[in-house]
Amino acid sequence: MSGQASFGRPMHRPTRIEVDLGAVRHNVARFGELTGTDVCAVVKGDGYGHGAVPVARAALEGGASWIAVALVEEGLALREAGIDVPLLVLSEPPVAAIGDLLEARLTPVVYRAPFLAALDAAARARPEPVGVHLKVDTGMGRVGAVAEDWDGVMREAAGAAGLRVDGLMTHLARADEPSESTTGEQLVRFAKAGRQAGLLGIEPRWRHAANSAGALAHRDARLDLVRPGIGIYGLSPGMDVDAAEYGLRPALELCTEVVFVKHVPGGTPVSYGHRWVAPRDGWVATLPLGYADGVPRALTNVAEVLIDGRRHPVAGTVCMDLLMVWCDQHRPHVGDRVVLLGAQGEDRVRVEEWAAIADTITYEIVTQLTARLPRGYVDHG
Ligand SMILES: Cc1ncc(COP(=O)(O)O)c(C=O)c1O
Repeated sequence: MSGQASFGRPMHRPTRIEVDLGAVRHNVARFGELTGTDVCAVVKGDGYGHGAVPVARAALEGGASWIAVALVEEGLALREAGIDVPLLVLSEPPVAAIGDLLEARLTPVVYRAPFLAALDAAARARPEPVGVHLKVDTGMGRVGAVAEDWDGVMREAAGAAGLRVDGLMTHLARADEPSESTTGEQLVRFAKAGRQAGLLGIEPRWRHAANSAGALAHRDARLDLVRPGIGIYGLSPGMDVDAAEYGLRPALELCTEVVFVKHVPGGTPVSYGHRWVAPRDGWVATLPLGYADGVPRALTNVAEVLIDGRRHPVAGTVCMDLLMVWCDQHRPHVGDRVVLLGAQGEDRVRVEEWAAIADTITYEIVTQLTARLPRGYVDHG
């Protein structure tokens, strides 16, 4: 793949996402180096908005041995694209999905006795036992067997002739706060779950707990396998765990071109609600994207974009399909390339900046970039 992105459909609007698969490959390899464990690359939510299939392929090139998704549907799409490695489905699907799950050789995460029983019944018809990963809740409070159910669920799994417990896993609630004690406490509970499983004869090949923040900031959480999502896209899991400090590279760039230019007198109001007024005579450029593309309206008057390698602030309310930027005395031209997320010249606008402005997390920014934005793929090595 060259440096030129191909989008696979006609593009009349110059607005697009470019994903550097070389960065994904690099980031996955970096997780392998830093942790010394196997890597399960998480590509749910359409690869955190980057495109699940190309990201999964790049992650495998970077050394991932597992790929994880949230839904059976997401796993089926990867299988249809020819991805033939172990695929972990992170949440227990409805019983009705068991046929598709088995047919596609997806590995389910399991934690409820009724689901285990239904899966076992279906699995017994197959020549080989079906591998499952058993999830225990050690403090996330979302899904996973709660402590008083561990024994029952583990017994159900241990006695299921159609199943083989390949993994024991949990999920960390506060790994992105490295100085906080919860992660250590969760790992103690997880070790206890492991001992309890052992007493029932369950000795899984894979014990895993760590998301990106867990893998980067908590050595004890690394165990046999790490499950990074946000980090393989080169993005930070939180304010206190900075992806760049670990040598991870952002993979996503959001760019467009100037489509309209005007010189305005000082005092000219711009956009809905007139929430911005030109501070002096100067240039305003209009860009063809807006909140229908996933640009948060919260960026109004605050975020900055790069034109000619220089930062220009958003001027006025972000509209559905358009937004304006203040170029001051720097005259823009129709067709000038604009980078909203990514690097131009010496500077880079990070997803982390948008997340801070919009009072959210990097995850939400990238997963809310809508399908209207064409994704193209490049490989910068
Ligand atoms: C069970 C599980 N493991 C791993 C991940 C990856 O987490 P992160 O994107 O923070 O690395 C997620 C994502 O939320 C998850 O739900």
